[in-house]
Amino acid sequence: MKLIKTSKEMHELASNIRVKGKTIGLVPTMGYLHDGHLSLVEEAKKRSDVVVVSIFVNPAQFGPGEDLKKYPKDLARDKALLKSFGVDFLFCPKVNDIYPEGFNTFVEVKDLPDKLCGRSRPAHFRGVTTIVAKLFNIISPTCAFFGEKDYQQQLIIKRMVKDLGLPVEVISLPTVREFDGLAMSSRNNYLSNKQKTSAASLYRALSFARQEIEGGEKGSGKIISQMRALIKKNPGIKIDYLAIVDPQTLRDVKTIKGPALIAIAAYIGKARLIDNILASVK
Ligand code: PAJ
Repeated sequence: MKLIKTSKEMHELASNIRVKGKTIGLVPTMGYLHDGHLSLVEEAKKRSDVVVVSIFVNPAQFGPGEDLKKYPKDLARDKALLKSFGVDFLFCPKVNDIYPEGFNTFVEVKDLPDKLCGRSRPAHFRGVTTIVAKLFNIISPTCAFFGEKDYQQQLIIKRMVKDLGLPVEVISLPTVREFDGLAMSSRNNYLSNKQKTSAASLYRALSFARQEIEGGEKGSGKIISQMRALIKKNPGIKIDYLAIVDPQTLRDVKTIKGPALIAIAAYIGKARLIDNILASVK
């Protein structure tokens, strides 16, 4: 595995690979890798000739007072993991390479970023689409892999790719969970064991909601208040939002008649965790 530190070198390498007619699979990450990230890498390996993983803690997607400075890092461990998974290139650019002095151009999708996480993280998705568009330009991947754990993120990226006509296939893959259902996340590192046990109630609440919907319950309000009660039994959780929305528009659904996305964000200690589940009316 080769470590690439500048976008210039990455771009030259990627252009040469594409000229030879080979496909590139890209897995963008912020590092501190876990099995969720690695499931994307495995799929990228299956589907592409050459796999590039990027690790870049993107300042543009963090708001004031968020965890940019303390975001967990362990490059040596990440490198060893990626090498053992047969990754070809690890791209780790510096902040001033990606955001040169005077940087003032952003890629912004409208509407979808205002929903769910966008309400408490107003500039977050603008930062995500800007960095992902830049990575697509630098690496020219054939396919790029994203997790459904960040459902809103992958939906917004698919919208961007369609709207800008970018020649990339965006592939989203299922959420990888701990044994108790807790969605894997680099931010789980902020939690004590006790907090982790509490955090697993988010998935139990999501599963309960899916069961209710698939059992014929149509009232979102009723399901959401039952979920709230279920989560409240566990100490130390502050719910940011709990929502049942249309999986394509992310608009709230009051009466469930078709596919629904049940989504949650909650603060536990220093961590803001998100999770979601899809349910379909039978
Ligand atoms: P990061 O949180 O490091 O996640 C990188 C990718 O891994 C994302 O596509 C995310 O959805 C996926 N992922 C995270 N946890 C997962 C899990 N438990 N199961 C499956 N996939 C999971 O998301 C980002 O970084 C950034 O916003 C990024 C896209 C890299 C742009 O900066």
